[in-house]
Amino acid sequence: QSSRGRFFMINTRKIGIIGAGHVGSHCAFSLILQGVCDDITFVDVNKEKAVSQAFDCMDTLAFLPHRAVIKSGEIKDLGDKDIIIICVGTIDNISKDRLCELDHSLKIIKSFIPEIMKTGFNGYFIVITNPVDIITYYVQQLSGLPYNKVIGTGTGLDSARLRRILSVETEIDARSIQAYMLGEHGDSQVAAFSCATVNGKLLPELIAEKPEKFSKIDFEAIEKKTTETGWDILCGKGSTEFGIACTCTEVVKAIFHDEKKVMPCSAFLQGEYGTFDIYAGVPAVIGKEGIEYIIELPLNEREKKKLSNTFDIIKHHVEIGRESVKN
Ligand code: 2OP
Repeated sequence: QSSRGRFFMINTRKIGIIGAGHVGSHCAFSLILQGVCDDITFVDVNKEKAVSQAFDCMDTLAFLPHRAVIKSGEIKDLGDKDIIIICVGTIDNISKDRLCELDHSLKIIKSFIPEIMKTGFNGYFIVITNPVDIITYYVQQLSGLPYNKVIGTGTGLDSARLRRILSVETEIDARSIQAYMLGEHGDSQVAAFSCATVNGKLLPELIAEKPEKFSKIDFEAIEKKTTETGWDILCGKGSTEFGIACTCTEVVKAIFHDEKKVMPCSAFLQGEYGTFDIYAGVPAVIGKEGIEYIIELPLNEREKKKLSNTFDIIKHHVEIGRESVKN
């Protein structure tokens, strides 16, 4: 067959972003700046805001690595998207914690997930809306999409924060540190220090071997600081946006390029880490199937105990959410 007669399909990479606030707009900016997608549609109840975010993003077109189309639209326009990012809802420093947002966030997602599914959407959901582990669970339930195609950003952001804090404490570049926060993206999350590595070397071993350099490292204080830093940022500026935008972009890249990248995200657990039927933050391999499988870390007893507590908190709030979803 002559190549002249061949028909080439060029697939554009299309993303829908529901919620055009701080988080949604920064996700879009991060995606286009890194050249990850070709087409973004913003949807927001505040239509003017969605239009303005789209135009503001389009003002970067002359500087982008490649052409992209950014527009605003309606839920009915999302049927052909490869990935829909959900970042609706508000959270502010008046709330006690992320769990306080449960009822409000569930009401919002209930209002549009069935509508999205009527468009024939068959892509991936990336969920950012808090409390993210519980909202991800209900996005899956309401959409009926397979568990692997519904992904929460979970402790992806917290793990990046842990690496940032460890980097300051150890004076080792954050990119050379592999370390995970596990469980709830919230106050009960757990730092898996026993499995943290510096390019293959277990961090606790490195610290023990060089007491003169690392004597001041206090794991408990680092875990606390990592857990609290999101809320501190929120209180200081009214939102968090840069870190979560990069976290979300990593998930999108891993799917689009079939990277098989290991990153912490909110994944559906079916026996892993000794629990069932909840979404929680764990390391997972992400590729073209979404969450392809979960990696189980060899945790120590302290971490296992804390993990069991964080799972109980998620389970409890999944049950609280069941009523809101029914009504
Ligand atoms: C964050 O941790 C507030 O969940 C938000 O940045």
